[in-house]
Amino acid sequence: MPDRHDTTPVLLKGVRCYGEGDPVDVLAADGVIAEIASSITPPKDAEVIDAEGQVLLPGFVDLHTHLREPGREDTETVATGSAAAALGGYTAVFAMANTDPVADTAVVVEHVRRAGQACGLVDVHPVGAVTVGLNGEKLAELGTMAESAARVRMFSDDGLCVHDPLIMRRALEYSRALGAVIAQHAEEPRLTVGAQAHEGTQAARLGLSGWPASAEESIVARDCILAAHAAARLHVCHVSTSGTVDVLRWAKQRGTQVSAEVTPHHLLLTDDQLETYDPINKVNPPLRTTSDAKTLRDALAEGVVDCVATDHAPHAEQDKDCEWQAARPGMLGLQTALSVVAETMVRPGLLTWRDVARVMSERPAEIARLADQGRPIAEGEPATLTLVDPEARWTVRGAEFASIAANTPYEGMELPARVTATVLRGRVTARDGRIR
Ligand code: DOR
Repeated sequence: MPDRHDTTPVLLKGVRCYGEGDPVDVLAADGVIAEIASSITPPKDAEVIDAEGQVLLPGFVDLHTHLREPGREDTETVATGSAAAALGGYTAVFAMANTDPVADTAVVVEHVRRAGQACGLVDVHPVGAVTVGLNGEKLAELGTMAESAARVRMFSDDGLCVHDPLIMRRALEYSRALGAVIAQHAEEPRLTVGAQAHEGTQAARLGLSGWPASAEESIVARDCILAAHAAARLHVCHVSTSGTVDVLRWAKQRGTQVSAEVTPHHLLLTDDQLETYDPINKVNPPLRTTSDAKTLRDALAEGVVDCVATDHAPHAEQDKDCEWQAARPGMLGLQTALSVVAETMVRPGLLTWRDVARVMSERPAEIARLADQGRPIAEGEPATLTLVDPEARWTVRGAEFASIAANTPYEGMELPARVTATVLRGRVTARDGRIR
């Protein structure tokens, strides 16, 4: 099914674009921003959204989402994940390849792409696997996936690391030829055998085997060097340690084409949370120290870490509500990302709302080379927008999320700021917590 286009004009009244300047009215018609003016009379049949005092941003782009279709539709489908994304202010998501079957063929990526188009709530871009079956041993047919109807431009074995340096080198070389990017889950597997929590005093105290920072940092350093030699583009998934930030700063200074994302949970939560042994806090890479979280916030503000990505990872109740060792790593993120960024970055003054547009929309769109996302809020540009109430406060209830799974680590927490409407090419996809 083609992308749905709604002909109903939408008038957003009294918004502050990027949270700056005087309030304006923004009129979306025929998929684009038709007019921005201090006061616009609503055209006949227009949907009017009274958004006094609200912040208008370009639609968010998530480079890292697990939609679980095909294979684990008991935890999330493309449809339910798309709904969660729209409610969270997203207009494009990248669906990771660790599905069952793995998204390592044109058939699977085309299925995911088509399922996304059928819902039409958000642009769903399938990520192709780097290796066949995520086995780390044999390159998948990157070219076939790139040329398929899904037009794959991001490849990743996320959940697992492409640990063989020769395979990684070849993947980078091919990706360059395809105009694609390799997104690496940086984890040297020889250093994380049996790992359960960040290696440090807290893990030692709790008797959980450690996931050392060096397992991430050594792969990021290696891959930056491989990417530089291949003149290819590398994207580092879910950066979690201070040492990785140092490596990224070094690589960027020497001109390596490397970008990096941080998750909302690594900005807000730390291994202090592990005290209760509640596996809701189990995630890969693990929650790190307070000092790591502070470094990550500063690195995001500075731009060494380019963007925020959710690593939205739905899991069934039985896979989270069990003993720590048996639990699967991962947490929901799509419907809380904006609020966690507001809490950790906007409230302390590390980011302005204009900066939020950069880290949640513009930079991710650039990294993925999406021409029609992360665009300026200006007349003639796509009406692909997210409206945020900066003064809202709300209490997180996982059961109320659009996701099938409910594994949020923020259950019961009060968070600031809320997405009140999402608009994709002029069509309202979510408004006031409801899908449209
Ligand atoms: O915690 C995680 N969960 N990290 C990953 O890299 C994969 C993800 C998943 O697929 O559940």
